[in-house]
Amino acid sequence: MKTIGVLTSGGDAPGMNAAIRAVIRTGLYHGVKMLGIRQGYTGLVNGDIEEMNLSSVADIIHRGGTMLRTTRSDEFMTEEGFQKALNIIEIFGIDSLVILGGDGTLRGASELAKAGVPTIGIPCTIDNDLGYTDYTIGFMTAVETVVDAISKIRDTSTSHGRANIIEVMGRHCGDIALYAGLAGGGESIIVPEVDTKIDTICQKLIRGRNRGKLHHIIVLAEGVGNAYDLAKEIYAKTGIDTRVTVLGHIQRGGTPSTFDRIIASEMGRKAVELLLDNNSGKALGIKCNEIINLNIDEALSIKKEFNVNLYETAQILSI
Ligand code: F6P
Repeated sequence: MKTIGVLTSGGDAPGMNAAIRAVIRTGLYHGVKMLGIRQGYTGLVNGDIEEMNLSSVADIIHRGGTMLRTTRSDEFMTEEGFQKALNIIEIFGIDSLVILGGDGTLRGASELAKAGVPTIGIPCTIDNDLGYTDYTIGFMTAVETVVDAISKIRDTSTSHGRANIIEVMGRHCGDIALYAGLAGGGESIIVPEVDTKIDTICQKLIRGRNRGKLHHIIVLAEGVGNAYDLAKEIYAKTGIDTRVTVLGHIQRGGTPSTFDRIIASEMGRKAVELLLDNNSGKALGIKCNEIINLNIDEALSIKKEFNVNLYETAQILSI
């Protein structure tokens, strides 16, 4: 009997549980022994592993977070830690692994594949920062969370006649800010991919005021500058009271959207079937509505393209 292990690593993303469920149930359907590895690569290094059955993954499709828990493991990155992981893989008789996470996690999956352990990676990160796939699991849920926050903040922004800066996650990728800014009807979107001048934002704010607009929502991607300094500068230039909300980890939690549950289920199934067909070192993704797979190193070398068209649409509609 074959034995497949599954782990989640790096920042959690809504939909990871739906993917774990799909991996476990597809494996069991095909008569495979399924193991859950707790706390990501840390659990692989330490042997924190349990056998999973059908009911281990009952009642989780709608839950945020990851039932297997996660870490950003420094030890696995060392030669010694990596060797320990290989040793655990042998001790537990693990034939192959399904590995869920973002770019760093997929890199680990590639290293394991090169060391002779068949692996398939499933892209899970709210950032949507992987160039080879249109969407990563968790991204759309995070966008929904931000859109909900924008709607709520707009109510109070209008009541007080303020400008409001909403800082969102995304590390080096502006997709959460872009998609949520467009869907939430934000007036200004500040992302790392586009050089935005404060004066442009202030002019837009004043133009809006002059035609009776009472609110101004600025969606700011984290890392593009300090939200509080930006608020001070906008106030100094316009005299308009400007408040800051940093959404933070609220974007990582919550029940996964239908879209995320569907792609998680599809990718979970596909990952197991690829392993059963003797594939290794592949990353799954979604392109033009099709589930795709390509070599992990090749996938990670594809540069993430910023969606200029969406950005332009947001600009035109928030004139
Ligand atoms: O990569 C996902 C992400 O949520 C980023 O958007 C954010 O910058 C980072 O993780 C935060 O990481 P931590 O888990 O260390 O708070």
